[in-house]
Amino acid sequence: MINYSDIPSPCYVLEEQKLIQNLEKIAAVQQQAGITVLLALKGFAMFSAFPIVKRYLSGAAASSLYEAMLIREKLGGSLHLYLPAYRPDEFDQLIQGASHITFNSLTQWEHYREKTRSAGLSPGLRINPEFSPVIHDIYNPASPYSRLGVRAENLSGKLPEGIEGLHCHNLCESDAADLETTLEQIEKLFGHHLPQIRWLNLGGGHLMTRQGYDIEHFIRVMTQFKARYPHLEIYIEPSSAIAWETGFLRATVLDLVETPGPAIAMLDVSFTAHMPDCLEMPYKPRIQGARQPQDGEPTYRMGGATCLAGDVMGMGDYAFDKPLQIGDAIVFEDMIHYTMVKTSMFNGVQHPSIGIIRRDGTFELIRQFNYDDYKRRLS
Ligand SMILES: Cc1ncc(COP(=O)(O)O)c(C=O)c1O
Repeated sequence: MINYSDIPSPCYVLEEQKLIQNLEKIAAVQQQAGITVLLALKGFAMFSAFPIVKRYLSGAAASSLYEAMLIREKLGGSLHLYLPAYRPDEFDQLIQGASHITFNSLTQWEHYREKTRSAGLSPGLRINPEFSPVIHDIYNPASPYSRLGVRAENLSGKLPEGIEGLHCHNLCESDAADLETTLEQIEKLFGHHLPQIRWLNLGGGHLMTRQGYDIEHFIRVMTQFKARYPHLEIYIEPSSAIAWETGFLRATVLDLVETPGPAIAMLDVSFTAHMPDCLEMPYKPRIQGARQPQDGEPTYRMGGATCLAGDVMGMGDYAFDKPLQIGDAIVFEDMIHYTMVKTSMFNGVQHPSIGIIRRDGTFELIRQFNYDDYKRRLS
Protein backbone atom coordinates (compact mmCIF):
# COMPACT_ATOMS: atom_id res chain seq x y z
CA MET A 1 0.00 0.00 0.00
CA ILE A 2 1.34 3.40 -0.98
CA ASN A 3 1.30 5.96 1.80
CA TYR A 4 0.47 9.18 -0.03
CA SER A 5 1.18 11.33 2.97
CA ASP A 6 4.91 10.48 2.56
CA ILE A 7 4.86 12.06 -0.89
CA PRO A 8 5.06 15.85 -1.32
CA SER A 9 2.33 17.47 -3.37
CA PRO A 10 2.40 17.88 -6.28
CA CYS A 11 4.75 15.09 -7.36
CA TYR A 12 5.26 12.78 -10.34
CA VAL A 13 5.96 9.35 -8.91
CA LEU A 14 7.52 6.52 -10.91
CA GLU A 15 6.86 3.02 -9.60
CA GLU A 16 10.14 1.21 -10.25
CA GLN A 17 8.61 -2.26 -10.24
CA LYS A 18 6.16 -1.30 -13.02
CA LEU A 19 8.94 0.14 -15.18
CA ILE A 20 10.93 -3.08 -14.74
CA GLN A 21 7.90 -5.15 -15.76
CA ASN A 22 7.48 -3.10 -18.95
CA LEU A 23 11.16 -3.35 -19.78
CA GLU A 24 11.17 -7.11 -19.21
CA LYS A 25 8.26 -7.50 -21.59
CA ILE A 26 9.89 -5.28 -24.22
CA ALA A 27 13.25 -7.03 -23.88
CA ALA A 28 11.54 -10.40 -24.46
CA VAL A 29 9.82 -9.08 -27.61
CA GLN A 30 13.12 -7.62 -28.79
CA GLN A 31 14.74 -10.99 -28.47
CA GLN A 32 11.93 -13.08 -29.95
CA ALA A 33 11.28 -10.74 -32.89
CA GLY A 34 14.99 -10.28 -33.60
CA ILE A 35 14.78 -6.50 -33.60
CA THR A 36 16.46 -3.70 -31.65
CA VAL A 37 14.37 -1.52 -29.37
CA LEU A 38 15.60 2.02 -28.69
CA LEU A 39 14.20 4.36 -26.07
CA ALA A 40 12.87 7.50 -27.74
CA LEU A 41 13.66 10.22 -25.23
CA LYS A 42 10.90 12.54 -26.32
CA GLY A 43 8.29 10.73 -24.24
CA PHE A 44 10.39 9.51 -21.32
CA ALA A 45 13.52 11.36 -20.28
CA MET A 46 13.48 10.71 -16.52
CA PHE A 47 17.19 10.10 -16.28
CA SER A 48 17.12 8.99 -12.66
CA ALA A 49 15.50 5.83 -14.07
CA PHE A 50 18.09 5.34 -16.84
CA PRO A 51 20.24 2.93 -14.76
CA ILE A 52 17.22 0.60 -14.93
CA VAL A 53 16.55 1.24 -18.63
CA LYS A 54 20.10 0.42 -19.67
CA ARG A 55 19.91 -3.02 -18.14
CA TYR A 56 17.36 -3.88 -20.88
CA LEU A 57 17.95 -1.60 -23.88
CA SER A 58 21.16 -0.94 -25.76
CA GLY A 59 20.37 2.36 -27.39
CA ALA A 60 18.20 5.43 -27.64
CA ALA A 61 16.76 7.88 -30.12
CA ALA A 62 17.18 11.64 -29.84
CA SER A 63 15.26 14.35 -31.63
CA SER A 64 17.22 17.33 -30.38
CA LEU A 65 20.70 18.28 -29.29
CA TYR A 66 19.76 18.26 -25.62
CA GLU A 67 18.20 14.81 -25.83
CA ALA A 68 21.37 13.58 -27.55
CA MET A 69 23.50 15.13 -24.79
CA LEU A 70 21.35 13.53 -22.09
CA ILE A 71 21.67 10.13 -23.76
CA ARG A 72 25.46 10.50 -23.99
CA GLU A 73 25.70 11.65 -20.38
CA LYS A 74 23.21 9.42 -18.60
CA LEU A 75 22.30 6.42 -20.75
CA GLY A 76 25.14 5.53 -23.11
CA GLY A 77 24.72 2.85 -25.78
CA SER A 78 24.02 3.51 -29.43
CA LEU A 79 22.60 6.88 -30.35
CA HIS A 80 20.17 7.33 -33.25
CA LEU A 81 19.27 10.82 -34.42
CA TYR A 82 16.24 12.18 -36.17
CA LEU A 83 15.42 15.87 -36.17
CA PRO A 84 12.75 17.35 -38.44
CA ALA A 85 15.43 19.87 -39.53
CA TYR A 86 19.06 20.09 -38.44
CA ARG A 87 20.63 23.37 -37.33
CA PRO A 88 23.96 24.18 -38.98
CA ASP A 89 25.30 25.67 -35.73
CA GLU A 90 24.58 22.46 -33.77
CA PHE A 91 25.27 19.73 -36.25
CA ASP A 92 28.91 18.94 -35.36
CA GLN A 93 28.13 18.72 -31.65
CA LEU A 94 24.91 16.81 -32.24
CA ILE A 95 26.43 13.93 -34.19
CA GLN A 96 29.21 13.19 -31.72
CA GLY A 97 29.04 9.54 -30.72
CA ALA A 98 25.95 8.88 -32.86
CA SER A 99 25.68 5.76 -34.98
CA HIS A 100 22.62 6.51 -37.17
CA ILE A 101 21.08 9.70 -38.49
CA THR A 102 17.79 10.15 -40.31
CA PHE A 103 17.02 13.10 -42.57
CA ASN A 104 13.52 14.42 -43.03
CA SER A 105 14.04 15.64 -46.59
CA LEU A 106 16.32 15.16 -49.58
CA THR A 107 17.49 18.76 -49.22
CA GLN A 108 18.64 18.13 -45.65
CA TRP A 109 20.48 14.99 -46.75
CA GLU A 110 22.23 16.90 -49.56
CA HIS A 111 23.17 19.63 -47.12
CA TYR A 112 24.71 17.36 -44.48
CA ARG A 113 25.86 14.45 -46.64
CA GLU A 114 29.60 15.16 -46.53
CA LYS A 115 29.68 15.82 -42.77
CA THR A 116 27.67 12.66 -42.15
CA ARG A 117 30.00 10.64 -44.34
CA SER A 118 33.19 11.90 -42.81
CA ALA A 119 31.86 11.32 -39.29
CA GLY A 120 31.02 7.71 -40.25
CA LEU A 121 27.31 7.76 -39.32
CA SER A 122 24.86 5.53 -41.13
CA PRO A 123 22.39 7.87 -42.90
CA GLY A 124 18.72 7.25 -43.49
CA LEU A 125 15.67 9.04 -44.85
CA ARG A 126 12.36 9.44 -43.08
CA ILE A 127 9.52 8.31 -45.30
CA ASN A 128 5.83 9.16 -45.17
CA PRO A 129 3.88 5.91 -45.57
CA GLU A 130 0.66 7.83 -46.25
CA PHE A 131 -1.11 5.68 -43.70
CA SER A 132 -1.71 6.23 -40.02
CA PRO A 133 -4.39 4.81 -37.73
CA VAL A 134 -4.24 7.99 -35.62
CA ILE A 135 -7.41 10.04 -35.83
CA HIS A 136 -6.23 13.17 -34.00
CA ASP A 137 -4.25 15.26 -36.49
CA ILE A 138 -1.97 16.57 -33.74
CA TYR A 139 -0.54 13.03 -33.43
CA ASN A 140 -0.85 11.94 -37.05
CA PRO A 141 2.52 12.22 -38.83
CA ALA A 142 1.08 10.87 -42.11
CA SER A 143 -1.74 13.39 -42.57
CA PRO A 144 -2.18 14.76 -46.12
CA TYR A 145 -0.10 17.90 -45.49
CA SER A 146 2.36 16.35 -43.07
CA ARG A 147 5.82 17.94 -42.97
CA LEU A 148 7.34 14.73 -41.65
CA GLY A 149 8.99 12.37 -44.09
CA VAL A 150 9.54 12.08 -47.83
CA ARG A 151 6.61 10.88 -49.92
CA ALA A 152 7.15 8.02 -52.33
CA GLU A 153 6.31 10.26 -55.30
CA ASN A 154 9.23 12.52 -54.36
CA LEU A 155 11.80 9.74 -54.52
CA SER A 156 12.91 8.83 -58.00
CA GLY A 157 13.41 5.20 -58.98
CA LYS A 158 16.49 4.93 -56.77
CA LEU A 159 17.37 6.19 -53.34
CA PRO A 160 20.08 8.85 -53.32
CA GLU A 161 23.53 7.30 -53.32
CA GLY A 162 24.80 6.79 -49.76
CA ILE A 163 21.42 6.37 -48.03
CA GLU A 164 21.55 3.21 -45.94
CA GLY A 165 18.27 3.24 -44.04
CA LEU A 166 14.63 4.25 -44.00
CA HIS A 167 12.72 5.55 -41.01
CA CYS A 168 8.94 5.54 -40.66
CA HIS A 169 6.97 6.86 -37.70
CA ASN A 170 3.21 6.82 -38.19
CA LEU A 171 1.77 5.01 -35.13
CA CYS A 172 0.59 6.25 -31.74
CA GLU A 173 -0.63 3.97 -28.96
CA SER A 174 -1.24 1.47 -31.78
CA ASP A 175 -1.57 -2.29 -31.92
CA ALA A 176 0.16 -4.96 -33.98
CA ALA A 177 -2.52 -4.92 -36.71
CA ASP A 178 -1.60 -1.28 -37.40
CA LEU A 179 2.05 -2.27 -37.65
CA GLU A 180 1.06 -4.95 -40.16
CA THR A 181 -0.82 -2.40 -42.30
CA THR A 182 2.13 -0.02 -42.04
CA LEU A 183 4.52 -2.66 -43.33
CA GLU A 184 2.15 -3.48 -46.21
CA GLN A 185 2.05 0.20 -47.07
CA ILE A 186 5.84 0.53 -46.87
CA GLU A 187 6.23 -2.46 -49.18
CA LYS A 188 3.64 -1.03 -51.58
CA LEU A 189 5.14 2.46 -51.78
CA PHE A 190 8.82 1.88 -50.98
CA GLY A 191 9.29 -1.88 -51.52
CA HIS A 192 11.63 -1.37 -54.47
CA HIS A 193 14.03 0.55 -52.19
CA LEU A 194 14.22 -2.11 -49.50
CA PRO A 195 16.87 -4.28 -51.19
CA GLN A 196 19.08 -1.16 -51.36
CA ILE A 197 19.13 -0.36 -47.64
CA ARG A 198 20.65 -1.93 -44.53
CA TRP A 199 18.21 -0.83 -41.83
CA LEU A 200 14.59 0.11 -41.28
CA ASN A 201 13.45 2.07 -38.26
CA LEU A 202 9.72 1.66 -37.59
CA GLY A 203 9.47 4.57 -35.16
CA GLY A 204 7.39 4.60 -32.02
CA GLY A 205 3.73 4.07 -31.22
CA HIS A 206 3.98 0.29 -30.65
CA LEU A 207 2.09 0.04 -27.38
CA MET A 208 3.15 -3.50 -26.52
CA THR A 209 2.92 -2.98 -22.77
CA ARG A 210 -0.78 -2.10 -22.86
CA GLN A 211 -3.02 -4.84 -21.54
CA GLY A 212 -4.50 -6.72 -24.48
CA TYR A 213 -1.73 -5.83 -26.96
CA ASP A 214 -1.24 -8.88 -29.15
CA ILE A 215 2.48 -9.47 -28.72
CA GLU A 216 2.37 -12.75 -30.62
CA HIS A 217 0.93 -10.85 -33.58
CA PHE A 218 3.78 -8.31 -33.40
CA ILE A 219 6.38 -11.08 -33.33
CA ARG A 220 4.67 -12.93 -36.20
CA VAL A 221 4.47 -9.81 -38.37
CA MET A 222 8.09 -8.93 -37.70
CA THR A 223 9.33 -12.45 -38.27
CA GLN A 224 7.49 -12.72 -41.59
CA PHE A 225 8.79 -9.33 -42.70
CA LYS A 226 12.34 -10.26 -41.73
CA ALA A 227 12.02 -13.51 -43.70
CA ARG A 228 11.24 -11.42 -46.80
CA TYR A 229 14.11 -8.98 -46.11
CA PRO A 230 16.71 -10.92 -44.14
CA HIS A 231 19.41 -8.35 -44.88
CA LEU A 232 17.55 -5.62 -42.92
CA GLU A 233 18.29 -4.62 -39.37
CA ILE A 234 15.00 -3.52 -37.79
CA TYR A 235 14.68 -0.86 -35.10
CA ILE A 236 11.70 0.48 -33.23
CA GLU A 237 11.89 3.49 -30.91
CA PRO A 238 8.97 3.65 -28.50
CA SER A 239 8.53 6.03 -25.59
CA SER A 240 5.00 5.41 -24.39
CA ALA A 241 5.35 1.64 -24.26
CA ILE A 242 8.35 1.91 -21.95
CA ALA A 243 6.75 4.18 -19.34
CA TRP A 244 3.13 3.09 -19.90
CA GLU A 245 1.23 2.94 -16.59
CA THR A 246 4.39 3.18 -14.52
CA GLY A 247 3.31 5.88 -12.13
CA PHE A 248 1.10 8.76 -11.14
CA LEU A 249 0.84 12.45 -10.41
CA ARG A 250 -0.05 13.11 -6.79
CA ALA A 251 -2.02 16.32 -6.24
CA THR A 252 -4.06 17.94 -3.48
CA VAL A 253 -7.45 19.64 -3.26
CA LEU A 254 -6.78 23.25 -2.18
CA ASP A 255 -10.36 24.49 -2.34
CA LEU A 256 -13.84 23.51 -3.48
CA VAL A 257 -15.74 26.02 -5.57
CA GLU A 258 -19.50 25.82 -6.12
CA THR A 259 -20.87 26.51 -9.61
CA PRO A 260 -24.38 26.14 -11.08
CA GLY A 261 -23.03 22.83 -12.39
CA PRO A 262 -20.57 20.49 -10.74
CA ALA A 263 -18.47 21.54 -7.76
CA ILE A 264 -14.90 22.27 -8.81
CA ALA A 265 -11.98 20.82 -6.93
CA MET A 266 -9.23 23.45 -7.11
CA LEU A 267 -5.98 21.50 -7.31
CA ASP A 268 -2.32 22.31 -6.76
CA VAL A 269 -1.57 21.01 -10.28
CA SER A 270 -2.44 22.45 -13.66
CA PHE A 271 -3.74 20.71 -16.75
CA THR A 272 -2.12 23.20 -19.08
CA ALA A 273 1.25 23.21 -17.27
CA HIS A 274 1.54 19.68 -15.89
CA MET A 275 -0.82 17.46 -17.93
CA PRO A 276 -1.03 19.25 -21.29
CA ASP A 277 -2.22 16.16 -23.16
CA CYS A 278 -5.46 16.34 -21.19
CA LEU A 279 -6.18 19.55 -23.10
CA GLU A 280 -4.37 18.78 -26.37
CA MET A 281 -5.64 15.31 -27.15
CA PRO A 282 -7.91 15.77 -25.18
CA TYR A 283 -8.34 12.83 -22.83
CA LYS A 284 -9.70 12.14 -19.37
CA PRO A 285 -7.18 10.60 -16.99
CA ARG A 286 -8.21 8.06 -14.38
CA ILE A 287 -8.18 9.23 -10.77
CA GLN A 288 -7.61 6.67 -8.05
CA GLY A 289 -10.83 5.94 -6.16
CA ALA A 290 -12.97 8.00 -8.56
CA ARG A 291 -15.49 6.70 -11.06
CA GLN A 292 -17.60 7.82 -14.00
CA PRO A 293 -20.64 9.59 -12.42
CA GLN A 294 -24.05 7.93 -12.68
CA ASP A 295 -27.15 10.04 -13.38
CA GLY A 296 -28.03 12.35 -10.48
CA GLU A 297 -24.85 11.57 -8.53
CA PRO A 298 -22.88 14.51 -7.04
CA THR A 299 -19.91 15.12 -9.28
CA TYR A 300 -16.69 17.04 -9.14
CA ARG A 301 -14.81 18.75 -11.92
CA MET A 302 -11.04 18.96 -11.55
CA GLY A 303 -9.73 22.52 -11.77
CA GLY A 304 -6.12 23.51 -12.45
CA ALA A 305 -3.88 25.89 -10.53
CA THR A 306 -3.32 28.54 -13.21
CA CYS A 307 -5.52 31.53 -14.07
CA LEU A 308 -6.27 30.13 -17.55
CA ALA A 309 -10.06 29.82 -17.75
CA GLY A 310 -9.73 26.55 -19.64
CA ASP A 311 -7.36 24.98 -17.09
CA VAL A 312 -9.98 22.40 -16.11
CA MET A 313 -10.53 18.77 -16.94
CA GLY A 314 -13.06 19.46 -19.66
CA MET A 315 -13.48 15.87 -20.81
CA GLY A 316 -15.73 14.84 -17.96
CA ASP A 317 -16.36 14.94 -14.24
CA TYR A 318 -15.70 12.42 -11.50
CA ALA A 319 -17.72 10.86 -8.69
CA PHE A 320 -16.18 9.77 -5.40
CA ASP A 321 -17.51 7.47 -2.65
CA LYS A 322 -17.11 10.20 -0.02
CA PRO A 323 -17.55 13.96 -0.58
CA LEU A 324 -14.19 15.56 -1.35
CA GLN A 325 -12.61 17.66 1.39
CA ILE A 326 -10.00 20.37 1.23
CA GLY A 327 -6.63 18.66 1.76
CA ASP A 328 -7.64 15.37 0.10
CA ALA A 329 -5.06 13.68 -2.13
CA ILE A 330 -6.00 13.35 -5.82
CA VAL A 331 -3.93 10.75 -7.65
CA PHE A 332 -3.95 10.95 -11.46
CA GLU A 333 -3.03 7.58 -12.95
CA ASP A 334 -0.55 6.91 -15.77
CA MET A 335 1.21 10.25 -15.70
CA ILE A 336 4.79 9.30 -16.48
CA HIS A 337 5.15 9.04 -20.28
CA TYR A 338 5.03 12.41 -22.07
CA THR A 339 3.40 14.21 -19.14
CA MET A 340 6.65 14.90 -17.31
CA VAL A 341 8.60 15.95 -20.42
CA LYS A 342 5.88 18.26 -21.73
CA THR A 343 5.46 20.37 -18.62
CA SER A 344 5.93 24.12 -18.53
CA MET A 345 6.29 26.61 -15.70
CA PHE A 346 3.41 28.72 -17.02
CA ASN A 347 1.94 31.09 -14.47
CA GLY A 348 4.83 30.32 -12.09
CA VAL A 349 2.79 27.61 -10.43
CA GLN A 350 4.64 25.17 -8.19
CA HIS A 351 6.30 22.57 -10.42
CA PRO A 352 5.62 18.96 -9.40
CA SER A 353 8.53 17.22 -7.69
CA ILE A 354 9.84 13.94 -9.07
CA GLY A 355 10.11 10.78 -7.01
CA ILE A 356 10.42 7.02 -7.27
CA ILE A 357 8.75 4.26 -5.31
CA ARG A 358 11.50 1.66 -5.10
CA ARG A 359 10.87 -2.07 -5.39
CA ASP A 360 10.84 -2.45 -1.61
CA GLY A 361 8.02 0.11 -1.36
CA THR A 362 10.08 3.01 -0.03
CA PHE A 363 9.54 6.43 -1.55
CA GLU A 364 12.61 8.34 -2.71
CA LEU A 365 12.28 12.02 -3.50
CA ILE A 366 14.56 12.68 -6.47
CA ARG A 367 14.05 16.33 -7.25
CA GLN A 368 12.12 19.34 -6.00
CA PHE A 369 11.77 22.54 -8.00
CA ASN A 370 11.91 26.02 -6.62
CA TYR A 371 11.71 29.70 -7.50
CA ASP A 372 15.18 29.58 -9.12
CA ASP A 373 14.03 26.95 -11.63
CA TYR A 374 11.24 29.29 -12.68
CA LYS A 375 13.44 32.38 -12.75
CA ARG A 376 16.26 30.75 -14.72
CA ARG A 377 13.97 30.12 -17.70
CA LEU A 378 13.25 33.82 -17.96
CA SER A 379 15.21 37.02 -17.96
C1 LIG B 1 10.03 10.05 -34.64
C2 LIG B 1 9.40 9.51 -33.42
N1 LIG B 1 9.88 8.35 -32.87
C3 LIG B 1 9.35 7.82 -31.75
C4 LIG B 1 8.28 8.42 -31.10
C5 LIG B 1 7.75 7.78 -29.85
O1 LIG B 1 6.42 7.42 -30.00
P1 LIG B 1 5.61 6.68 -28.83
O2 LIG B 1 5.84 7.39 -27.57
O3 LIG B 1 4.19 6.76 -29.28
O4 LIG B 1 6.10 5.28 -28.77
C6 LIG B 1 7.75 9.60 -31.64
C7 LIG B 1 6.61 10.27 -30.98
O5 LIG B 1 6.16 11.31 -31.34
C8 LIG B 1 8.32 10.17 -32.81
O6 LIG B 1 7.86 11.31 -33.34
